[in-house]
Amino acid sequence: MAKLTDITWEDFSRLDLEAKKPYLERTEGDGMPYHTLFAQQFDRGILERLCTLANRIRFINKSKEGALYLKNVLAHKRAMLYFSQPSSRTFLSHLAACQILGLTTGSVRDAATSSEFKGESHEDSIRTFSSYFDMIIMRSPEQGLAEKMAWELSNSERPIPILNAGSGKDQHPTQALLDIYTLIRSFENKGGIDGRTVVFCGDLKRGRTVRSLSYLLTNFSDVKQVFVAPPELQVPDDVTAVLKAKGVRYEISNDLRAGVRIADAVYMTRIQDEWDTAKGESAKIDTTGFKFGAEELALLGKDGIIMHPLPRRDEIATCCDHDPRAMYWRQMRNGMWIRAALIASVFGFEQPIMNCGY
Ligand code: NCD
Repeated sequence: MAKLTDITWEDFSRLDLEAKKPYLERTEGDGMPYHTLFAQQFDRGILERLCTLANRIRFINKSKEGALYLKNVLAHKRAMLYFSQPSSRTFLSHLAACQILGLTTGSVRDAATSSEFKGESHEDSIRTFSSYFDMIIMRSPEQGLAEKMAWELSNSERPIPILNAGSGKDQHPTQALLDIYTLIRSFENKGGIDGRTVVFCGDLKRGRTVRSLSYLLTNFSDVKQVFVAPPELQVPDDVTAVLKAKGVRYEISNDLRAGVRIADAVYMTRIQDEWDTAKGESAKIDTTGFKFGAEELALLGKDGIIMHPLPRRDEIATCCDHDPRAMYWRQMRNGMWIRAALIASVFGFEQPIMNCGY
């Protein structure tokens, strides 16, 4: 069995993401993650299992008896939410997911309030959290940090799972899970995700949600991906290299309206100017053609949907908010259910919940 205790950090960090996957599983071969670090850990079978479990949790939670059953499932566990980067939805939805399953939580939301401010290393901070908690849900501006911490923890006396809630410009696996869950639900009685066209628009260069979702979509058959952005913010080569290697159809474009006409889903993103290397760098880019408003809405098919990981600025006009095709609010709530499904699975409670009498 591939174990993180049998490989040095140097050797592990050199593997490509798909080769890292078996080292991160709960039980080798089952596919369900123990540490959740990147989208490459999820194949179609696991995605479908998680979405089924999320639907089940959602249903059980409707009655008081069911909700009380769920609250007992992980009542013996504690989770630490360690967010050293701004977050509203990802923090709150993980917190709510923990509450649904009865986990007690603690949180650090600002490195300035933790001992890191006194010069403590990330490694020491994480080891500290693992003394008190049974899982760490972490968001960090540092690419690769969650991975390093997962290796460190697995090689410590108190190995506990890490869940990556956003790592730098790199990956945001649980956002991609909720995006897939939203797509699956939206096209549930309409033939599913296979064969669909997904149009990504906005800052595709620095948006980590795009990289993670683009990968997850490769698990489905014949999904076309269209990347609409100003040239300065176009999707990075590592994303298109994956698509080429997997034979996925994709298109690079700067024409949002042309994209909307053929889209089953339009995935809007905001300009990620917190990553600017020079002051005002993003403000110089002409983004006028990359916003979704009433005219784009009129071009969208009747079964098409509009998605956004949120927060939004002006890339989706508020006049779209009440259209039934605006999926971003439901997408946000879907995040809570799919995260609950993931956390329950990490602790081995997929089958007990699936088979419970509620
Ligand atoms: C995204 C993120 O943090 O990457 N937000 C989120 O988690 N819902 C997208 C963004 O910040 O633009």
